[in-house]
Order: sequence, then structure tokens, then C-alpha cells
Amino acid sequence: MRMSRGLIVCLSAALIFGTAVGIAGGSDEMCVPMGDISLVAPIDEPKRSEVNFPHTAHFDLSCKQCHHTWDGVDPISGCMASGCHDLSESPGKSEDKALKGLPEIRYYKKAYHQQCIGCHQDIKSKNAALERSNLMLEEPLPSAGPTGCVECHPKE
Ligand code: HEC
Ligand code: HEC
Ligand code: HEC
Repeated sequence: MRMSRGLIVCLSAALIFGTAVGIAGGSDEMCVPMGDISLVAPIDEPKRSEVNFPHTAHFDLSCKQCHHTWDGVDPISGCMASGCHDLSESPGKSEDKALKGLPEIRYYKKAYHQQCIGCHQDIKSKNAALERSNLMLEEPLPSAGPTGCVECHPKE
């Protein structure tokens, strides 16, 4: 996936997270893209426009909520790293026999939609439930993030 912004912060994981000393030195420096990341489909003729993902706007969440295989020490790898969400077509719909039977979540689009839309939808549903309950809300409901197609894939 292509990164759009120039600003990238490189620090050792130990510095960013104040991890206890003792992490073996060496390769644990990690570059964290700040601001927005442009998420581009890994195919020749995408149906939709690329998605502008405000990375840092999500930093109130745990990094591991999205980077769910991260061990907290080694540099984080991209979502489409080999063996992760590395298929550019749906295995279920593929003509390729070698792909048939692989889990659908290997398909990058499935992974992104499930995670991005899933979380935003969850917050929306919880907000709607709170609105229906006649509880006195002391604080405004949290913002949810987009769930509609063109909110993420603007018309070009
Ligand atoms: C809401 C989901 C989400 C959260 C939370 C999140 N990230 Fe990310 N991050 C992403 C996505 C999506 C990418 C782009 C991955 C790609 O291009 O394959 C990314 C990319 C990165 C990359 C670059 C990986 C590469 O391709 O080299 C690093 C490093 C990173 N994030 C660090 C962090 C850190 C540190 C935190 C916590 C402070 C964090 N992220 C929180 C979704 C998230
Ligand atoms: C675990 C929950 C979670 C995940 C996963 C997640 N988001 Fe969000 N997203 C949020 C929340 C919460 C907000 C509202 C943040 C705010 O306005 O303070 C948000 C806001 C946004 C916004 C609007 C930001 C703004 O400034 O108005 C965009 C765009 C967005 N998300 C895109 C994405 C994309 C693309 C992904 C997947 C790569 C993703 N999100 C994954 C929770 C999540
Ligand atoms: C929260 C953000 C978000 C929402 C909402 C969303 N998508 Fe996506 N979508 C993505 C991300 C991220 C990707 C993977 C990166 C890319 O393709 O740019 C993706 C990929 C795709 C792809 C595969 C690439 C292509 O363009 O051919 C299609 C098709 C697609 N989305 C259609 C939709 C449709 C239709 C909707 C509404 C039902 C929708 N998306 C809603 C974030 C979103």
C-alpha cells in the first residue's frame, strides 16, 4: 500500500511505548507513518477510489486492535504481508484451484472491510442502543467513523 504523507516518525519501540529496558537492541527501530495513509487496491482496475485513512486519528485505540499480530517489539508489517491478507481476489470466487479453500480473510478487501467497517458499525450500533435506552447521557456519544461506501471511497 502506498503512503501519502511525508511525515514518518522513526523511533525504537522501546522509546515510543516506554517499554522496560532489556529489549535486545538491533532491529527494533520502527517507522510509524503519521497523519493520513492512502490505502490503494493492489489490482489494476479498482472499482472504487482509494481510501484516505487517518492513521493518527486512530491512535486513541490500541495499536494491536488493528496490528493484531504485532508482538510489541519487532517492527509492524503491512496488512498485505505474505501469509496475512495477501490475496488480491476472493479465494471463494477464484478460478484458481490453488486458492480455493483458503480462508476468505486472506483477501485484502475482506480484511479491510471487516475491520474498518466492522468497528465503525459497532460503535454506531452501541450509540443507537444508548439513544433508545432512556438513560440520561452525561457525555456526548462518541463519534463512530464512516460506514457508507462513498464516505471512504469518494466519487472521483
Ligand atoms: C484503526 C487501525 C489502526 C490502528 C489503531 C493503528 N494502525 Fe498502524 N496502520 C494501519 C493501517 C491500515 C496501515 C497501513 C498498512 C498497509 O499499508 O499495509 C498502518 C500502518 C502502520 C505502519 C507501517 C507498516 C508498514 O507497512 O511498514 C506502522 C509502523 C504502524 N501502522 C504503526 C502503528 C502504531 C505504533 C500504532 C499505535 C500507536 C498503530 N499503527 C495503530 C492501521 C492502524
Ligand atoms: C477498532 C475501531 C476502529 C477501526 C478498526 C477503524 N476505525 Fe476508523 N474510526 C474509529 C473511530 C472511533 C473514529 C472516530 C474518531 C474521532 O472522530 O475521534 C474513526 C474515524 C474514522 C474516519 C473519520 C476521521 C475523521 O477525522 O472524521 C475515517 C475516514 C476512518 N475512521 C477510516 C477507517 C479505515 C479506512 C479503517 C480501516 C483501515 C478504520 N477506520 C478502522 C474506529 C475505528
Ligand atoms: C471504512 C471505510 C470503508 C467503507 C465504508 C467501505 N470501504 Fe471499500 N474498501 C476500504 C478499504 C480500506 C479497501 C482496501 C483499499 C482500497 O481498495 O483502496 C476497500 C476496498 C474495496 C474494494 C476493492 C477494491 C476496488 O476498488 O475494486 C471494493 C470493490 C470496495 N471497497 C467497495 C466498497 C463498497 C461497495 C462499499 C459500501 C458498501 C465500501 N467499499 C465501503 C474501505 C471502506
